[in-house]
Amino acid sequence: MQKITIAVDGYSSCGKSTLAKALAQKLGYNYIDTGAMYRAVALFALNNNYFDAKGKPNIDSVINSLPNINVSFTFNAANKTSETCLNGINVEREIRSMRVSDKVSLISSIKEVREKMVALQREMGKNKGVVLDGRDIGTNVFPDAELKLFMTADTLVRAQRRFDELSSKGQYHSIEEIKLNLQKRDYDDTHRKENPLTRAKNAVVIDNSDLSREQQLEFVLKLINDLHLITLTE
Ligand code: DC
Repeated sequence: MQKITIAVDGYSSCGKSTLAKALAQKLGYNYIDTGAMYRAVALFALNNNYFDAKGKPNIDSVINSLPNINVSFTFNAANKTSETCLNGINVEREIRSMRVSDKVSLISSIKEVREKMVALQREMGKNKGVVLDGRDIGTNVFPDAELKLFMTADTLVRAQRRFDELSSKGQYHSIEEIKLNLQKRDYDDTHRKENPLTRAKNAVVIDNSDLSREQQLEFVLKLINDLHLITLTE
């Protein structure tokens, strides 16, 4: 059966990964969390003390370390999702911490880091049948993706969702701190020089402030059907 590439871009904590995972599961596609890849590089930089007292990264150290940074995914059969590995070690939990969230935009704005991650993403998605979520998938990584989605949601709704997610893992931060982190990352991601977050001209915008997980999945499946992108069974 014909396979397509689905790009899910948008702001931080807009439910991109929730939608992308659900789509991948429904279609039997691979899911690639590109944000997790930048988070893994940020974790490497943190673990190796590449940030100064003011929180700025030593860019040369990060670039020089790139040959020693191996990011991959492993499938967790128990929860049926792929999890992120840094140099062979599962770091899925660590990369979601605020410690990493605070620093990841600084790392993902480094040109050489992006080049390495984008090359990896293109290799992983070269046979189609993939759903990728990130910031530059539809504009840069796979500009020919058959379906491009651009997700957004009210900032407070996003902060509340992130708060719930972190709290469920025993990580407690105030809504205000989370909101500021989201706003800062959105600013950094949309203003950086290298492949900033922008909406691809042919992307479909989804504001999911008032949509449940089921409703947003249903909306996209209908879109795939209406656009005759692939034949959906059932
Ligand atoms: O989706 P996320 O919040 O896990 O992404 C973490 C950071 O990585 C985000 O602040 C921006 C960056 N990122 C990026 O620059 N390009 C991507 N394709 C994905 C994420």
